[in-house]
Amino acid sequence: MSDRTEAVATGAVTHYNDRVVRQFAIMTVVWGIVGMGLGVLIAAQLMFPELNFDIPWLTYSRLRPLHTNAVIFAFGGCALFATSYYVVQRTCHVRLFSDRLAAFTFWGWQLVIVLAIITLPLGITQSKEYAELEWPIDILIAIVWVAYAIVFFGTIAKRKVKHIYVANWFYAAYIITIAVLHIVNNLAIPVSLTKSYIVYSGVVDAMVQWWYGHNAVGFFLTAGFLGMMYYFVPKQAGRPIYSYRLSIVHFWALISIYMWAGPHHLHYTTLPDWVQSLGMVFSLILLAPSWGGMINGLMTLSGAWHKLRTDPILKFLVVALSFYGMSTFEGPMMSIKTVNALSHYTDWTVGHVHSGALGWVAFITIGSMYALIPKLFGRSQMWSVKLMEAHFWIATIGIVLYITSMWIAGVMQGLMWRATNEDGTLTYTFVEALAATYPYYGIRLLGGVMYLTGMVLMAVNVWKTVKDAKPAEVPVAAAVHA
Ligand code: HEM
Ligand code: HEM
Repeated sequence: MSDRTEAVATGAVTHYNDRVVRQFAIMTVVWGIVGMGLGVLIAAQLMFPELNFDIPWLTYSRLRPLHTNAVIFAFGGCALFATSYYVVQRTCHVRLFSDRLAAFTFWGWQLVIVLAIITLPLGITQSKEYAELEWPIDILIAIVWVAYAIVFFGTIAKRKVKHIYVANWFYAAYIITIAVLHIVNNLAIPVSLTKSYIVYSGVVDAMVQWWYGHNAVGFFLTAGFLGMMYYFVPKQAGRPIYSYRLSIVHFWALISIYMWAGPHHLHYTTLPDWVQSLGMVFSLILLAPSWGGMINGLMTLSGAWHKLRTDPILKFLVVALSFYGMSTFEGPMMSIKTVNALSHYTDWTVGHVHSGALGWVAFITIGSMYALIPKLFGRSQMWSVKLMEAHFWIATIGIVLYITSMWIAGVMQGLMWRATNEDGTLTYTFVEALAATYPYYGIRLLGGVMYLTGMVLMAVNVWKTVKDAKPAEVPVAAAVHA
């Protein structure tokens, strides 16, 4: 009898904690539908404002931050928790550092989300974009995040392999940075349970806010999901990562440059001019590590491209990388001050956001969840490959409709707003530009409905896959290459 068989027979073997991974994975799908459903509703409200039914908590201004919080922190957050807990155990060959703390992060995070769903429609907000939640919820987030850090880094510390796989580097950077950003940006003086005043004022407040906002994009919406990419792309392609050396360069270059690019959100404001230019230069440099990462991911498929024909999971992952490349090309272009003079305040920004959000963040998540969920529930694959295929095509067409309509609308708005007559008066009134935008809002709405439909197909597929499943505990050593 080998040592391992003996250990299994005597019950001395430890198992991975997949329970918390399963919980977060399922909630990723649930919150994905809620968050994107809200996206579709606000997209519809921009066309038909009467859809707020004159009810204050259904107004656009309150549902918009609920949409962003739901998709970023609920959908994206649950996906990051699920995959980081899965990846860190598999690559370190140990069970999570603490089951109790891991369970606490799950329930604590769900409580944060529920509190957001209650308070934002009630109009309780700090009025800082992506940091709207009021101080008691902010404290809860900080506590949950510290527990998350203890579980993640505790697991790394007790690892059985000397080497720390690169996916964990990205997850580690995201966990540490989000803690720092969250605490610094939310420093506030409470005046009641539901109201506080941020300690910063004026342009300092703006700079801190966009240092936070941009790095939330860089570390929450990028570094964390790159951790996902570095594990699931090689796994699904059945090939090692194209260049390990490139992944190390990618990591250090990305995290050191992202920090300085925030001022591109404040071009032509009262922020000192040199700070704006510095932000622009760092944003341009950011193209290099971003594309390095994309190339590393895509080249991992060399020799496995034929798998794309039959594997919808790989399709999601590869298209995600292509959108990552596209939005990280577009971003640096938009950070050039003269380009930003046209794009800022227009729907071009919204198009850029969603090429990153729908194309990169959500696609890498969907691909990873399709790879992960059957494994977690003891199935060989998802219930229906055809349904995954349908999801892929509906969602891809949905993204194209969403982003192309917003690009056209954005450039059109920018040009209409700046057009002047010979005598210096404006050629168009604001309302004329708004009226011209309506058809594009219609196309965006259609794209959004398609994207959401894809998510519903995913939910059906996941339901059928996990229903009646009896997930077995996976012994640590046996699952080294699972
Ligand atoms: C069915 C899918 C979705 C639809 C229909 C949708 C729709 C919308 C709409 C209508 C807005 C407001 C735009 C405006 O103010 O003019 C918005 C904003 C936003 N959405 Fe989505 N969304 C979807 C999915 C997502 C996902 C998956 C993410 C992130 C992972 C996301 C992140 C954001 C962000 C960050 C903003 C704020 C953009 C800004 O301030 O410029 N959305 N979305
Ligand atoms: C090299 C990478 C990137 C650079 C340099 C960059 C640059 C920019 C610029 C210049 C803006 C417009 C700011 C304004 O005029 O207000 C912007 C907005 C935005 N970008 Fe990116 N971007 C990058 C990648 C991404 C990615 C991958 C995402 C992912 C989802 C993303 C999400 C956003 C969001 C959410 C906003 C809207 C912020 C707001 O005003 O609420 N960006 N970005």
